[in-house]
Amino acid sequence: MKNIKLFDPNIGKDEKQKISQVLESKFWASGSGTGNVSKFENQFKKYLGSDDCIAVNSGTAALNLALSLIDIKNKEVILPSLSFISTAHAIIINGGIPVFIDIEPETMCIDPNEIQKSITTKTVAILPVHFGGFPCNLKYIQNIAKKHNLTIIEDAAHATGTTYNNKKIGSHGTATCFSFHPVKNLAMPTGGLISINHKNHKQFRKTLLARRWCGITDRIDSEYDVKELGWNYYMNEFSAVIGLAQLKKLDRLNNVRKNIAKFYDKQINVEHKIPFDKRCSYHLYWICVRNRNQFRSNLFNRGIETGTHYKPIHKMSFYKSSNKILNTEKVGKEIVTIPIHPNLTQSQLDYITESINKFV
Ligand SMILES: Cc1ncc(COP(=O)(O)O)c(C=O)c1O
Repeated sequence: MKNIKLFDPNIGKDEKQKISQVLESKFWASGSGTGNVSKFENQFKKYLGSDDCIAVNSGTAALNLALSLIDIKNKEVILPSLSFISTAHAIIINGGIPVFIDIEPETMCIDPNEIQKSITTKTVAILPVHFGGFPCNLKYIQNIAKKHNLTIIEDAAHATGTTYNNKKIGSHGTATCFSFHPVKNLAMPTGGLISINHKNHKQFRKTLLARRWCGITDRIDSEYDVKELGWNYYMNEFSAVIGLAQLKKLDRLNNVRKNIAKFYDKQINVEHKIPFDKRCSYHLYWICVRNRNQFRSNLFNRGIETGTHYKPIHKMSFYKSSNKILNTEKVGKEIVTIPIHPNLTQSQLDYITESINKFV
């Protein structure tokens, strides 16, 4: 049997045809995001049912820009330590102070009770991560935010297609950040997006478009003005056109992921694993094991790739803190992610479950 990859984007004829059309057109990118980028924004907005969508060139860029919409300078932003490093960097880049808190071990999502305990007079925002595609308890988090006048910026890098209260993640809060990195449920060479739901969404869009392209505004032909700093964060046409093809099949492919999750839920003899929940988009399927290095090496020797998502951020040299974040530190040593992409065959799934049950 060939090696089984941890992640594997699903590509078809549509992606290949459209890539070649963009190539031939020689219109590969525009800072103002016309062409396929604007088509992708409109289609994704419809898919989510949000007020607006602004495409960028990564999930990292989406977080950096979304946090620039509120003034977090020298203020505190509460986030889980169990995440990819970009979640925390976005706070520092915008001059804020990250306050790392614990997760609920059942879901690996931020623990709402810990949010409540960590609020100070300097707190301005909460940055929950829908971990592995599992929806955070948004209602609870929204109640806390309302009570303390805090903004919620969601990190939905794992949660494209996840639902909460029968609506897609990205349609609830002020700003939600998506990643379309090649390993994600909606894959592009590189890409991200900010979804906005706010009465000032038109103004937010204007601000984000300028910051996405070097601060450029008021453009008429080759005339333009620059009133503030901006970045080169715009999405290119190749990514957008692949995204359009991927979006058409997103729900179908997410259903394949859910069926795999249901199968793993029944077959894998591990007590602590991601729960089965139809709302989840299953970007990741995680299990916790005690002897992680040995376990991963046993699977590797059988040709099965696994991952560790993540080493807690507060354990990284740049963020090092002596604060104890107990659940996060425990699962940071035990968590293993196993293949759940939609290209897996039933015989591969049988092989994976049999191997896991043998070595766990
Ligand atoms: C939780 C989380 N946030 C943000 C990002 C950043 O996304 P990107 O790699 O597209 O910059 C990732 C990427 O893996 C992620 O997993």
